[in-house]
Amino acid sequence: MIVAENLVKEFKVYERRPGLLGSLGTLFSREHRLVRAVSGVSFEIPAGARAAYIGANGAGKSTTVKMLTGIMNPTSGRCLVAGLEPYRERRRNAANIGVVFGQRSQLWWDLPVPDSFRILRRIHEIPAPVYRRNMALYRELLDLDALGSTPVRQLSLGQRMRAEVAASLLHDPAVVFLDEPTVGLDLVLKGAVRELVNRVNAELGTTVMLTSHDIGDITSICDQVLVVNRGEVVHQGTVHELLRAADTRAVVFEHQGWPAPAQAIAMIEDRLPGVTARPVEGGRIRVEYPTRHSSAREVMGFLLEHFDVTDCVAPEPDLETVLRRIYTGRAEPREALL
Ligand SMILES: Nc1ncnc2c1ncn2[C@@H]1O[C@H](COP(=O)(O)OP(=O)(O)OP(=O)(O)O)[C@@H](O)[C@H]1O
Ligand SMILES: [Mg+2]
Repeated sequence: MIVAENLVKEFKVYERRPGLLGSLGTLFSREHRLVRAVSGVSFEIPAGARAAYIGANGAGKSTTVKMLTGIMNPTSGRCLVAGLEPYRERRRNAANIGVVFGQRSQLWWDLPVPDSFRILRRIHEIPAPVYRRNMALYRELLDLDALGSTPVRQLSLGQRMRAEVAASLLHDPAVVFLDEPTVGLDLVLKGAVRELVNRVNAELGTTVMLTSHDIGDITSICDQVLVVNRGEVVHQGTVHELLRAADTRAVVFEHQGWPAPAQAIAMIEDRLPGVTARPVEGGRIRVEYPTRHSSAREVMGFLLEHFDVTDCVAPEPDLETVLRRIYTGRAEPREALL
């Protein structure tokens, strides 16, 4: 449904010289450098998928979404959304897609929300039954009536975002691009937006491409994750696969008798190179081992052989830790997952 092939976007940035004269000089200067915001991105998102497109600030996510929605043309490479090249066929593409940019409004700033909806209904020629069904759903989940006749520019962020998300879905688009749709929302409203997106995906098969820095958005909406780093896709797979790609595993165990925890920790770190251990609550010990150097069998075998283990759990790596490692470049996901 969404295809990107070697997608590249470069921006020309005109160098600014310091001071006021420098700023004026910039107007006439032709000196510039190229910023490569998206650097040869390729991926495919099948129809009906709920894909998270995530990465650190400045990784190139919004720029990618702008190319997929036809707002910008790629410097090179190609993208297809529902079989159309977005930038070349902007109008036809607009009929197929819905867009939310959390950082920027798509609504008519001076009009009350209901007026914006009436205009959208005309623009998209939305049939009456579809309009009624969707408005009923938004009323139920997003409490749209509460927005009344206030112009959009006077709405609170949460009020406006409710309207933005509803507006993007009003015409039953085949694909919806949500670029930080829950930014600044409270817990209740985040939950409502997540529920709406999931309902629309389940009932209408809407393909979802979501960008968010909120782990909760990713885990409660998405069935696959694409991670972009410095303009390149470094991982595509399920959340579970991403977690499995983590290069560190942990075991937390409890033991009785000899040796005391402090000695046990020293012994583990001494005998198993690259493995770290630390005390955690309840007199237990958390052991972390890099999968590159040690295997579960090695670590577990050592613990069982040397300690009278009474309890043992191997917690899943958490998504936040895994992503932090990828964003900071301290861990490369396994290539096999690409
Ligand atoms: N119009 C522009 N002109 C020049 N550089 C730009 C422009 N738009 C984006 N960039 C640069 O491209 C890079 C990627 O920006 P982009 O907005 O796509 O990142 P992002 O992944 O959406 O980040 P965030 O998580 O902060 O929203 C950044 O270095 C940014 O400064
Ligand atoms: Mg962005």
